[in-house]
Amino acid sequence: MKALILAGGSGTRLYPVTVVVNKHFLPIYNKPMIYYPLSLVMLLGIREVLFVVNPEDEENFRKLFGGGEKLGMRISYTVQDSPRGLADGLVLAEEFAEGDNLCMMLGDNIFFGHELVNIMKEARRDIEENGGAYVFGYYVNEPRRFGIVEFDEEGRVVSLEEKPQKPKSNYAVTGMYFYDSHAIEIAKNIKPSWRGELEITSVNQEYLRRGNLKVKLLGRGFAWFDTGTHHSFLEASSFIETIENKTGLMIGCIEEIAYKNGWIDKDTLLVAAKSLDKTDYGTYLKKVAEEEIF
Ligand code: G1P
Repeated sequence: MKALILAGGSGTRLYPVTVVVNKHFLPIYNKPMIYYPLSLVMLLGIREVLFVVNPEDEENFRKLFGGGEKLGMRISYTVQDSPRGLADGLVLAEEFAEGDNLCMMLGDNIFFGHELVNIMKEARRDIEENGGAYVFGYYVNEPRRFGIVEFDEEGRVVSLEEKPQKPKSNYAVTGMYFYDSHAIEIAKNIKPSWRGELEITSVNQEYLRRGNLKVKLLGRGFAWFDTGTHHSFLEASSFIETIENKTGLMIGCIEEIAYKNGWIDKDTLLVAAKSLDKTDYGTYLKKVAEEEIF
């Protein structure tokens, strides 16, 4: 399985903060937002990643991750010349996917929770063995902001709606999706929504129609942030700061994950630590290399 991370979009909901800087480069506490979705993909053991980016941001993404060499990964980029919606990301990934299954992650989503990685690995395995699409639901306070999933009494999915005026439940579809190779064909055939975008919800609705959509609920023990508003930015930053300072362990530290996955050696990790010498992040990487962090 390969991964696709969507990091384009206009960012207008965060104006004026994002007039000149793409939100994915902005800090969630002590690292760029984009580190968090990338780290989750890495924790799933996926080594090949395509970023969908805006034309003006490609150079900065390359500065940050290059071709993935420093992480022992293969990272590439594709440019979305105008924000046509999330499902357009799938269409842009056609060549990259080469008919493989895809894990698609939104660049502004942050997940945290015990056993999260195992749950997502199970979804990956399910798609690889049985095909279809796999998404995750999370109970939220403001369902009008999200794609919403409705269940019947037996817990079967009845409907999916994008940002409904009258939400049929409080379960939002989070920004982590697993798809078999049909997703791209489906994305190519959907029509733009009332807001003029190719919605990922339309792709998921088609999987639902075909009887091929699996939804797993992430319970109250999980934290999920869609950092699309000023408030959620601050919320996510405080959350990361609290957990990191309590435990002394970093969340979303991509070099640590690469090292523990066996994708880079100690010398490469120490080079990364040295380049961040004067920061807590650099000190932390040094500790990881000295095996003081487990
Ligand atoms: C997008 C999706 C929505 C999903 C959300 C999760 O919304 O369209 O279905 O619930 O991401 O973060 P957007 O961030 O484009 O408003």
